[in-house]
Amino acid sequence: MTAHPVPLRAGAAQAPGAASDPVIRLQAVQKTFQLPDGQRFDAVRSVSLDIAPGDVFGLIGKSGAGKSTLLRLINLLERPDAGQVLVGGRDLTALSRKELRETRQNIGMIFQQFNLLQNATVFENVAFPLRIHGRNARAEIDARVRECLALVGLEEKIHSYPAQLSGGQKQRVAIARALAPRPQVLLCDEPTSALDSETTQSILDTLREINQKIGVTIVIVTHELSVVEALCRHVAVVEQGRVVEQFAVREAGAERVTVLGRELDALVRRRVREAALDLELAQEAAQLPAALRVAGGAAHV
Ligand SMILES: Nc1ncnc2c1ncn2[C@@H]1O[C@H](COP(=O)(O)OP(=O)(O)OP(=O)(O)O)[C@@H](O)[C@H]1O
Ligand SMILES: [Mg+2]
Repeated sequence: MTAHPVPLRAGAAQAPGAASDPVIRLQAVQKTFQLPDGQRFDAVRSVSLDIAPGDVFGLIGKSGAGKSTLLRLINLLERPDAGQVLVGGRDLTALSRKELRETRQNIGMIFQQFNLLQNATVFENVAFPLRIHGRNARAEIDARVRECLALVGLEEKIHSYPAQLSGGQKQRVAIARALAPRPQVLLCDEPTSALDSETTQSILDTLREINQKIGVTIVIVTHELSVVEALCRHVAVVEQGRVVEQFAVREAGAERVTVLGRELDALVRRRVREAALDLELAQEAAQLPAALRVAGGAAHV
């Protein structure tokens, strides 16, 4: 067995005849959550989606639309109730637990809140996915960790702990960790939402460089138009659990891009408005005497 059981396949994916094979194929995937009150909620409704190798694919839409659920279906963090999830041609829904664990090495993931191991150094965080499979020799792990930290420009922090890093540096560690097993796919759930705009730009630059350098396919959930503009080649708009529209950002004519921009802007504005309204309502509710906070109570004031 090699040090890295899942080889980088970007080169193979670009071979003649393979270029059109999607690296990710969702076929009529469906996810329904059982709510505590016994009701059921369809978070993802019969979504079919093809994502080409090497693409940077954005999933956008308002809060609660189902973006994160859709993303988590790609590595089976959420198991679909119906439909198929194919990554690198393998149907993940048909794999045993052991096979799924192996295959997940092919799919890295990063999150808004970084999700680093707080009591472990940067080195140990990045080495973690290489250690859990126990097949890699110490020297190989050491070399791969350094290689990945170089990719994200963070070699000098190798012995630091997460608490000693800035938000942007933490996200770089998370990217290095996700890339360590040489995945074909990198899933990103709002990776820059917790960062200021300057740091956001530098993380987006890093993701773009990584995509260009090693050909890893990036799927990114975002509600930020700047992320779409800076990074994405294709975009799917998610609304109430469905993909309602798809765009090729750069290939679209200038007119289409303007329309796309307006649509995204509208989505973002709507989200900001809703968030502001939620906050306002929460603040108003907090000022009401407790006895009046029951449903309908306020109507009698
Ligand atoms: N484990 C769960 N149990 C019940 N309902 C869930 C669960 N996870 C998600 N949902 C619901 O599914 C819907 C879609 O959630 P999801 O997190 O995918 O939305 P999102 O588009 O990522 O939103 P946001 O932009 O706020 O992150 C929401 O209505 C959410 O409440
Ligand atoms: Mg989400």
